[in-house]
Amino acid sequence: MTQLDRAREFYVDLLGFVETSHDRDRAYLRGLEEREHHSFVLRRAASPGVSHFAFRVASEDDLDRLQRSSAQAGLRTRWMEDGAEEGQGRALRVQDPTGLPVEFYHRMDQVERRLQRFDLYRGPHVMRIDHVNVQVPDVQKAYDWYTREWGFWCSEYTETDEQPARLWAAWLHRKQNVHDIALMNGIGPRVHHAGFWVPDASSVLRACDILAGAGHQDAIERGPGRHGLSNALFVYVRDGDHNRIELYASDYLIADPDWTPIRWSINDPRRATFWGHVPPKSWFDEASHVESIADGSLIEPKAPLLADRPSFVT
Ligand SMILES: [Fe+2]
Repeated sequence: MTQLDRAREFYVDLLGFVETSHDRDRAYLRGLEEREHHSFVLRRAASPGVSHFAFRVASEDDLDRLQRSSAQAGLRTRWMEDGAEEGQGRALRVQDPTGLPVEFYHRMDQVERRLQRFDLYRGPHVMRIDHVNVQVPDVQKAYDWYTREWGFWCSEYTETDEQPARLWAAWLHRKQNVHDIALMNGIGPRVHHAGFWVPDASSVLRACDILAGAGHQDAIERGPGRHGLSNALFVYVRDGDHNRIELYASDYLIADPDWTPIRWSINDPRRATFWGHVPPKSWFDEASHVESIADGSLIEPKAPLLADRPSFVT
């Protein structure tokens, strides 16, 4: 964030994220039902961008195993010491095969959830982080890595209509809803958005009212609408640095990970927008640059292998 105070005003004061703590350079945020110290960190920086996104693993030993397997595959890795992020134990960062900076951790302080502190609810009632959505130039390569090496399952996917079909996007999960990470074909590596779960459709609408009421109606980029893929009711909003988040409600349970993934054609308009307006150009063109885990410099993105948007979007 280039202006931390402005970002805190947006996320905490307007959107009602819970602030666990903050210091001069960082604010550690979480949703109302979350029990981990933080799920979202705002960090002061000279330019906008994403340092990393993170997944929790089941044990400290898993971190060592991940380090060995990643290094064997030729990926850059870096250990972050205990406490590098407040409330979090040691962590492993990996630059994945597409260049995305991914962090794994096991230990995180637990804090009191606010689920039943209804008296403290503000904003659109952000409950928890749901997923991250990324743009990569080669979705097939990323899909192979995340499913074969890191144990993600696919819930839904998008492919082209040519023969043989080519993978355009994939929604991958570990927890039992539609996704923890979505891989989209596009200029990358870039982080397109972080998705946060809200309880219902009225929460999505309330976010729009609150933003507009505060004079931030231009922050509403796309939606409200419903996705075909994932079935979620959504709105996308941009903060003062144009980082994008999605407020996301009413996706569905995946009871068993061996359910057959649902196929969508890239040319089906109901895929991304079951109802609602066609996404604006900015939604495809603009996304957050990501950092190199080696030195924190921003990685120069590359052009995608496939067309980066459906033909009906101009
Ligand atoms: Fe999303």
